[in-house]
Amino acid sequence: MNPTAPMAPSFLIVAIDGGAAAGKSTTARALSSQFNLLHVDTGSYYRAVTHELLRQGVPSDDTAAIAHAASGLALGTRVQGHRAQIEIGGHGVDEAALRGPAVNAAVSHFAAVPAVRSALLAYQRDQARIAREHGFAGLVMEGRDIGTVIFPDADFRFFLHADPAERARRRAAEGQQDSIAERDRLDSTRKASPLQCPPGATGLDSTHLTLEEVVARVSAPIAARLAANT
Ligand code: DC
Repeated sequence: MNPTAPMAPSFLIVAIDGGAAAGKSTTARALSSQFNLLHVDTGSYYRAVTHELLRQGVPSDDTAAIAHAASGLALGTRVQGHRAQIEIGGHGVDEAALRGPAVNAAVSHFAAVPAVRSALLAYQRDQARIAREHGFAGLVMEGRDIGTVIFPDADFRFFLHADPAERARRRAAEGQQDSIAERDRLDSTRKASPLQCPPGATGLDSTHLTLEEVVARVSAPIAARLAANT
């Protein structure tokens, strides 16, 4: 079986990629409730792994130690409402810690290590099975490499972008301290699965759009496809 192929014609996979604060999470959340999809925020998975590696004292520049620690992680999933949440060693990770300055500063370094990416690859694809088991109509997965690597055959692939100044304003409005330009630079220039617009994906510049307008533009083709199939 091709692990990247959509699982069944009626099971919908929506991939949303883009840089930090491009509007991915708000859009994915809205789609998940509109179309009964499991919402998978893979950024939070990289954040949880980073948090755990920091907790274990693994240095972010020691590739061998990172590979050893990453391959030993016991990953599980808890579904809460429409959202999938990662568990490590049977425990969830506190949301505030995931978004804190220590994880913000380290996550792009750990995410660039191929062993960390391969530790999460099968786990991320397996979220489709979990969505089916929980009775969802599909899944919406957001990240940096969803349309390029995780689900290149997704039914819909979107790439969101926005001016750096607007994205920094959005993060500040959320009260977060985050060097998004630096993270984007690291995420786009790494060798392993860099942030890039998947070939053939629908690009959307959200700089001058409200989040409601972004959601409306992304959901319209999905609603049209579903209506045509009924
Ligand atoms: O979406 P976010 O800003 O919470 O993501 C945090 C970091 O995780 C991001 O800077 C790069 C990494 N990431 C990744 O490398 N691949 C993904 N699919 C998702 C996130």
